[in-house]
Parts: sequence; structure tokens; C-alpha cells
Amino acid sequence: MDEILRVENLNFEYPDAPVLRDVSFTLNKGDFLGIIGANGAGKSTLIKLILNLLPCPKGAITLFGEDISSFKDAHKIGYVSQKSNAFAKNFPATVEEVVAANLYSQKKLFSRYTRADRDHVREVLSRVGMDGYLDKPIGKLSGGQQQRVFIARALVAEPELLLMDEPTSGVDAANAAAITDIITDLNSRGMTIVMTNHDTPALFKISSVLLIFCEHGNGEFVKKTDLTLDEVNDIFAGRRKHHHA
Ligand SMILES: Nc1ncnc2c1ncn2[C@@H]1O[C@H](COP(=O)(O)OP(=O)(O)O)[C@@H](O)[C@H]1O
Ligand SMILES: [Mg+2]
Repeated sequence: MDEILRVENLNFEYPDAPVLRDVSFTLNKGDFLGIIGANGAGKSTLIKLILNLLPCPKGAITLFGEDISSFKDAHKIGYVSQKSNAFAKNFPATVEEVVAANLYSQKKLFSRYTRADRDHVREVLSRVGMDGYLDKPIGKLSGGQQQRVFIARALVAEPELLLMDEPTSGVDAANAAAITDIITDLNSRGMTIVMTNHDTPALFKISSVLLIFCEHGNGEFVKKTDLTLDEVNDIFAGRRKHHHA
């Protein structure tokens, strides 16, 4: 199996607060990790650590077999941040520009936007059902539509690992369902996914493995096939400890 991400005995604290204690798990190609935890549990912090946005002890996080301190293939990783659509409101760019901008991160600086690039941008926008909005200013779309555009933005660089921090929070039910379908489809085509969500039943349904942060506890990494939703809720509430086989 292709190992995509390994987290080993990861500990992290901000100057005033310990956040993550001894978090360990491994994801192979095609895994879908759902991260469950209350507000402030450290979900976003874990995602930022994986993206190398926060200082991380050597050996604690390995991406594609490489320690994150020396990992160079940033284009293999897509990220949709928790608040991506908060920036969009007054951002003076069209849907096409927002998506194409992430294409440039992969290409040589100042290289031309070719017809093939434009076709690729259209293709990823059609995958998220937003190909009819190419010339629309991003700020004129609904929150759910913006979130779909941000998923397309991540996809245009053809990542192998896609990290999404609460991609459906603050999004209307219809768009949330559509986004969930898009993510499930990406995963069924072999993309490795890491996703946080407040909706435990929804996340339980679509993920293959779970990292559960219960109050004042370590993250428990469990295979979904080993557990029922009730048992997951019990671990989350601290009523049950999962014992690894
Ligand atoms: N930049 C920061 N500096 C100090 N403390 C932070 C910072 N970011 C988050 N925290 C704290 O770390 C804890 C975990 O935050 P976070 O990872 O955002 O949790 P979650 O995403 O699960 O809600 C919280 O108590 C939060 O207040
Ligand atoms: Mg968060």
C-alpha cells in the first residue's frame, strides 16, 4: 500500500496552551480520514501542522515518505481552509481567476495561460458543478457556491492528498450535500482525503478511518469498520475507550 501521510507521537502546544498529545495515525492511498472533535480540540491545528504552517518536531509528520521539514512537493497537497469563503466577499477576482491562480503555483512563474489551461479550469469547475460561473465575481456567489469554487481551486493542481477544514460549515443544506457528494466521488477515484466536520453522522458515513478527539483526551485513531456510530459517539463523549486489536 502507498503510504501518503504518517503522524507519529505528535505533540503540539501554543505558548499558552497544550493542544495535541501523542497523536499517531497512518493514511494510505485512498483512505478518507474524518476528524471529529469539539471546538478547540485541535483539529485545525493538526491540519496546519500537516501543511507545515506551524513548527513541528522532526520525525513527527511524514508526507509521501518524506519528513515535512524537507518535503518539497507542495503541489501534491490540496487545501481548503476553514474560512476560505470569508476572504471571498470583497475579493476582486472572477471564478476563473480564483481557480487559475492555483494553476500558476505549479507552473513556471509568468508562463502563459494557455487554451489547455482554460480547458482544465473549466473541467475542474464542471466537476464541482460551477462551470456556468466562469466570469462571475467570486464575491457575488453564495457561501456554498464559493466553497465549491475553492474545492475546484484545490483540484486544479491535481493533488494526491486533499485536506479540508469544515468545508460544509456555514453552507446551506443543498450545497453541503453537493459538496459531500463531490468529496465522496473524489475519494472513490482514489484521492486520499482528510476532512473535519461538526456533523459526526455525516462524517461517519463517508470516511474510512476516524480520528476522534474526546474532551481532555488524546486523539483516538479508529477504523470505521470496527465501530458503530453509537460507539464513535461514546468515544467522543469519553464514555468508551477504543482498544486497538
Ligand atoms: N494561533 C494560536 N495561538 C494560540 N492558541 C491558539 C491558536 N490557534 C488556536 N489556538 C488554541 O488552540 C486550541 C485548538 O484550536 P483549533 O486547532 O483551532 O481547534 P479546532 O479546529 O478543533 O476548533 C484552542 O484552544 C485554540 O484557542
Ligand atoms: Mg477548526
